[in-house]
Amino acid sequence: MTRGKFITLEGGEGAGKTTLIRGLTHALADLGIVTLVTREPGGTPGAELLRDLLLNGDVERWSSRTEALLMYAARVDHVERCIKPALNRGAWVLCDRFADSTRAYQGVGGGLGAADLAELQHFALNDFHADLTLIVDLEPAIGLERTIKRGEKITRFEKFDAEYHERLRQAFLDIAEEEPERCVVLDGSQSTEAVLTAALAAVRTRLFSTA
Ligand code: TMP
Repeated sequence: MTRGKFITLEGGEGAGKTTLIRGLTHALADLGIVTLVTREPGGTPGAELLRDLLLNGDVERWSSRTEALLMYAARVDHVERCIKPALNRGAWVLCDRFADSTRAYQGVGGGLGAADLAELQHFALNDFHADLTLIVDLEPAIGLERTIKRGEKITRFEKFDAEYHERLRQAFLDIAEEEPERCVVLDGSQSTEAVLTAALAAVRTRLFSTA
């Protein structure tokens, strides 16, 4: 059995990751690829409990350091009990947010050092990482407007100010620049179809030759 591929989707709030995951799932199914769609924080019963603690409540509920530890507690459970078993069964895993979100939100947004977070990542996951990361880039104001229009519940993180979200956007772009072999940036201001086409092109060039 060939191991499946691990694809993560990253970006700011309302960038269109959920719609893109739906499109990718259908396109991969047409190619005969079985996918598992999941999200972070969450994806297992235990991690979903932690998600509830992390996303709800007062903005000041947790410090960035506590948040990072809770995110990684959820992530380890998710990787060990859901993601790795699925990859080993040959499924391709599409994950809405992963470790880059901690680097952006708790690291750059929350002021934690990149080296500390890299150490935490290594302790938690060893060298486990995504085979491909699609970063959906969008102006934060447009993303937040989309989230509000959809009537979605505003989480603790969406309550931060515009400057915070601008720093997050730049943080994701910096990660893409640091790790070009893993990351591809997609223009989230394009139509749903155009974003999906660009994502599929990245999947084809980055993953099919080694699938
Ligand atoms: P979402 O599923 O709607 O994207 O909500 C998840 C929220 O959690 C989002 O605001 C980003 C935040 N988050 C972090 O702050 N750090 C992380 O490591 C992850 C995975 C998410």
